Amino acid sequence: MSETRSYDRSLELWRRAIEMIPGGSQTNSKRATAYALGAFPIYAQRAEGARIQDVDGNWYIDYILGLGPITLGYCYPEIDAAIREQLERGIIYGLLAPVELEVAESVIEMVPCAEMVRFLKGGAEVTTAAARIARGYTGREVILNCGYRGWADGWMAQSTGMAGGVPDCLGGVIDGFARHDLDSLRAKLEEHAGRVAMVSLDPAGGGERVPDGYHQGVRELCDEFGALLMYDEIVTGFRMAPGGGQEYFGVTPDLACFAKGIANGMPLGVVCGRAEVMRKACDDLVISVTYGGEALSLAAAAAAMRVYRAEPVFETIWATGARLMAGFDELGEKHGVPLKCHGYEPMSSQTIRYEDPKLSQDVWTLLLQEMAQRGVLLRRGGLLFVTYSHGEAEAEETLAALDESLAVIADAVDRGTVQDLLRVTEVKESFRSFT
Ligand SMILES: Cc1ncc(COP(=O)(O)O)c(C=O)c1O
Repeated sequence: MSETRSYDRSLELWRRAIEMIPGGSQTNSKRATAYALGAFPIYAQRAEGARIQDVDGNWYIDYILGLGPITLGYCYPEIDAAIREQLERGIIYGLLAPVELEVAESVIEMVPCAEMVRFLKGGAEVTTAAARIARGYTGREVILNCGYRGWADGWMAQSTGMAGGVPDCLGGVIDGFARHDLDSLRAKLEEHAGRVAMVSLDPAGGGERVPDGYHQGVRELCDEFGALLMYDEIVTGFRMAPGGGQEYFGVTPDLACFAKGIANGMPLGVVCGRAEVMRKACDDLVISVTYGGEALSLAAAAAAMRVYRAEPVFETIWATGARLMAGFDELGEKHGVPLKCHGYEPMSSQTIRYEDPKLSQDVWTLLLQEMAQRGVLLRRGGLLFVTYSHGEAEAEETLAALDESLAVIADAVDRGTVQDLLRVTEVKESFRSFT
């Protein structure tokens, strides 16, 4: 193994950042304290394909990947060429951009529920738009939701203990139900009978595989109670299948939201669905944003969707993910470390479960540290994202690094020296975590 990597420049920037930016980051999951602060890179200076370089000059195979939007790889030539070509002709106009039609047509062709589409930016924006459309269409107010839909008031009002700054009254129009539990959903639909506008969920969320028949059951319950079904495909979209989780599970929702995989990293969100429902978005609701027609992101999306249709992107992502999941499980067993993969190959989650939860967390931190030291970036618990640019070579390099890292960990657990091996810097957490 090479000598200990330096993260000095990263730490220097981060110390400056926390004086100006609360928590040092714009994204909860990117906060430096979520990883192995002091023994893990914080700032990137470039990335290419499956690899990323930090500001200290170290290169890594990246599985964090901007938290999901990169599906083809960094600096993917077709995407960058499309962005450059559009850039020469302007970023955003007061007139409409023809590329809006190309992206709309591609989404309608690829996504089963999409008969009409609207473009916005991030995930919270599109899920909030879906809620407005559902309430406007049904004339009902309550939303039953399972999972994270973004930071907006209307969603955070559901999360007990996380609703700081959110008016209490919003809690009256959103309620939760238990994941993968049809009885829980039925009970909530009965409790709010005649008032539920929309049931929303992320079709492969929660980190585990979905029980057979679950999505069909949710669809039937929505129909029975007259509620719209919305899939948040922000993680599953353009990752599980060309048409997202709805294609993979074979169940068509009334509305769906996309944001991450659609433009290979450029900021674009899509809310789409049945034409009759979507028309509400223009007929009698206000859903209007300045940047929806921003043409660089639309050009990137158009190019990404051309690649998705022309090349075996999703087959490759599944195959690489399968190799990694099997390899992680095998190596965990080989070293007697309780590391297990769960969920689906394109975006699996991982658990490390010792009886002592503190030991589990420390071992996670040590794993992040040791893998970074060997040139691989993982995220605590996953999701482990893969791209079309992660090939066999990257998977094998990752598993070789994991083999060595787990050997270090197994020995440290045996000797009781996990804490001694951590090179992390202790800090007070200043960014509210909701994970
Ligand atoms: C399933 C899901 N929905 C919604 C969001 C919110 O997206 P954004 O952070 O772009 O607002 C996320 C973000 O991670 C997500 O994973």
